[in-house]
Amino acid sequence: MPDSARVKKQTERCRIRRAKISDVPKIRELITFYASRNLMLPRSLQEIYECLRDYWVGEKNGEVIACAALHVNWEDLAEVRSLAVAEKEHGAGIGTRLLKRCIREAKDLGIKRLFALTYVPAFFERHGFHLCDKEDLPRKIWAECIRCHKFPDCDETALVLDV
Ligand SMILES: CC(C)(COP(=O)(O)OP(=O)(O)OC[C@H]1O[C@@H](n2cnc3c(N)ncnc32)[C@H](O)[C@@H]1OP(=O)(O)O)[C@@H](O)C(=O)NCCC(=O)NCCS
Repeated sequence: MPDSARVKKQTERCRIRRAKISDVPKIRELITFYASRNLMLPRSLQEIYECLRDYWVGEKNGEVIACAALHVNWEDLAEVRSLAVAEKEHGAGIGTRLLKRCIREAKDLGIKRLFALTYVPAFFERHGFHLCDKEDLPRKIWAECIRCHKFPDCDETALVLDV
C-alpha cells in the first residue's frame, strides 16, 4: 500500500477516547437522534455534563461519531448506557469497541457486575451479557428509573454481565 493510502486509512480509523466538554453537543445529538426514534432513552444536556466523566466517544477525522457511558451505581454494580454509533458508521465494529472499553473500565475499577437496559438485547448478548429480571436491579430502579417518564411501564430489556 502506498504511504499516502496508509496515512489516509489511519486517519479514517475511529479513535476511542474519553469525552471532553466540547463533545457534549455532539453526544447529545447522537443520543437524541435515537431517542426520538424510541431506540434509547433521551439525556438532557445537564445529565450529560454532570456525568461527562462516564463517557467515551469514538472520533473519526476530528468528528465525534459514537458514544457510550459507564455509570457506577454501587460497589458491585455499574451500567453501560447511551451506546450510540452514527448510522453511517454502523457495522464497522465501533459499537463493539466502545462496549469492550466500558467492560474493561469496569474491570479496572473492580466492579463485579455490569448491566444494560436496552432495545437491542441481541447486541449485548453477543458480548456475553445475559437476560435478567429488572427486579434484580433494585438500586438502579430506585435511584433512577423512578424518575423516568416510562416508569413503571419500562419496555427496555435488562441484561447483566458478570465481569
Ligand atoms: C447497537 C449499535 C450501538 C451497534 O453499533 P455498531 O458499531 O453498528 O456495531 P458493531 O459494528 O460493533 O457490531 C455489529 C454487529 O452487531 C450486530 N448488531 C448491530 N446492531 C444490532 C442490533 N440492533 N441487534 C442485534 N445485533 C446488532 C450486527 O448484526 C453486527 O453483526 P456482525 O458482526 O455479525 O455482522 C448501533 O447499531 C446503534 O447505535 N444503534 C442505535 C442505538 C442503540 O440501539 N443503542 C443500543 C444501546 S441503548
